[in-house]
Amino acid sequence: SKVARDITDQVRAKDAAEAANRELEAFSYSVAHDLRAPLRGMSGFARVLLEGYRDKLDAEGQDWLQEIVLNAQKMAALIDALLSLARLTRSEPRYARVDLSALAREAADQLAAADAGRDVEWVIEAGMVATLDLSLARALVGNLLGNAWKFTSKVSASRRACIEVGTTEVEGRRVFFVRDNGAGFDMAFADKLFGPFQRLHTVDEFPGTGIGLATVQRIVRRHGGRVWAEGRVDGGATFYFAFNEVVSGSPQ
Ligand SMILES: Nc1ncnc2c1ncn2[C@@H]1O[C@H](COP(=O)(O)OP(=O)(O)OP(=O)(O)O)[C@@H](O)[C@H]1O
Ligand SMILES: [Mg+2]
Repeated sequence: SKVARDITDQVRAKDAAEAANRELEAFSYSVAHDLRAPLRGMSGFARVLLEGYRDKLDAEGQDWLQEIVLNAQKMAALIDALLSLARLTRSEPRYARVDLSALAREAADQLAAADAGRDVEWVIEAGMVATLDLSLARALVGNLLGNAWKFTSKVSASRRACIEVGTTEVEGRRVFFVRDNGAGFDMAFADKLFGPFQRLHTVDEFPGTGIGLATVQRIVRRHGGRVWAEGRVDGGATFYFAFNEVVSGSPQ
């Protein structure tokens, strides 16, 4: 029948798209991997020059050379971030019931322990569960909470930073959210956030490489879900994520 044929065509197109995607991922992985060796060579030789030939260079020459070394380090960090992003979703996910509330609590404790000077109010809904790959779920929660933590670091003490993790209903579906009252962002660039190395804040304002949300999007998509964001400059940000029925929250 025509319907059956249409469905077969759709399945075929989806398979082809997935294969092309996998190929592209494997390609970018090997490119990133192969870029490491020559980069290491460049920074290594620049360092040799800096150490062994220092007295043959004036102060300005030494500064330029130092800049080369620093930029090579930055590039190495970007390549490493790209590689770990590629590695993250390379193996087949192993699905299990994951306690997202516990993961959020765990991530919150880690963040607070690493930066004990900060006063942040945490509101974490109890009983959030979903069928996910545990290590991917941990990376998902860790990245979103890490961002909330970072982008509330300049909230004035009088207002007090607040980070909320919970669920809400959007168009009849249960969705998870991570909300903060920090720096926020301009909604005009909301679709840019999830691209690798895309940042809406300078490194001087808030440190980072711009790989966290690309990781988050990859993980959510890997589970057949969707992630999106809402924000306002100086008005905080909310990140929503939802999975399709197969991996959704309600107990089975
Ligand atoms: N909670 C948030 N509030 C305001 N802006 C955010 C928030 N989370 C992300 N952003 C914006 O999205 C950009 C991309 O986020 P992403 O997590 O990918 O990168 P990063 O945190 O800057 O670096 P990395 O995660 O690699 O350490 C951020 O640089 C920031 O501009
Ligand atoms: Mg981040």
